[in-house]
Amino acid sequence: MRFFLDSANIDEIREANRLGVISGVTTNPSLIAKEGRNFREVVQEIAAIVDGPISAEVISTDAEGMIVEARELAKIHPNIVIKIPMCAAGLSATARLAQEGIRTNVTLIFSANQGLLAANAGATYVSPFVGRLDDIGHDGMDVLRELVEIFDIHGIATEIIAASIRHPVHVSAAARAGAPIATVPFKVLMQLVKHPLTDLGIERFLKDWESVKDK
Ligand code: E4P
Repeated sequence: MRFFLDSANIDEIREANRLGVISGVTTNPSLIAKEGRNFREVVQEIAAIVDGPISAEVISTDAEGMIVEARELAKIHPNIVIKIPMCAAGLSATARLAQEGIRTNVTLIFSANQGLLAANAGATYVSPFVGRLDDIGHDGMDVLRELVEIFDIHGIATEIIAASIRHPVHVSAAARAGAPIATVPFKVLMQLVKHPLTDLGIERFLKDWESVKDK
C-alpha cells in the first residue's frame, strides 16, 4: 500500500516528503482554507515538492463548472489530479474529463455502489471516507473492504484511496483490506513512525555503546 499525504501545509508536505515514503498528496477545500493562502499558489508549491499525483478539488456544483475548473487546474502541473465530489454532476464531469485524458479522484465516497459508479464514469481514483463513516456509527472499513473486493472481482483499474484516516489502526486495517493507497494526515504519518519500544531501544543501545566506545 502506498501513502499519500492528506494536507495542504507546505511545511508538513516538505517534512513528510523527506521521509521518502509518500508518493502523492491530497488536498480539499477545508485543508486549503486552513492555510489561508491562494489555492493555485499552494498547489503549484506542492507539485514542486512531491513528484506524484496531487489532488486539487473543484468547488463548482454543476458539471460544466467542474469541467471548466478542472481544465484550468490540470494546466498547473502534469501531476495534478482533479478531485470531484461524488454526485450526479460529478459523475458527468468525471466521464467528460476521462475522455479528455484528465485524471480524477472522485471524493466523498460513502458506499461501495458510489465507488462502482465513479469507476464506471472513468475515475482514476475513488476516495472512500473511512473516518467520517465511523463518526456516524458505521464501520467505514466495511465500505473499504467491499470496494476492494468488488474492484478485484471485476478487474476494475480505478485505484482506491483510503481517505478520512484518523489514526494508525485505520492505516493497518486499510492495508489489510487491500487498499492500494491510503491518504494520511501528517499527524497520523508521524504516529506511524514512532513506537515507545523503538525509542527505548535506541536509548539503551547508545548508553551501552558509551561504556565501550573508548576501548
Ligand atoms: C481525502 O482526500 C480527504 O481530504 C480527507 O481524507 C478527509 O478527511 P477528514 O474526514 O478527516 O476531513
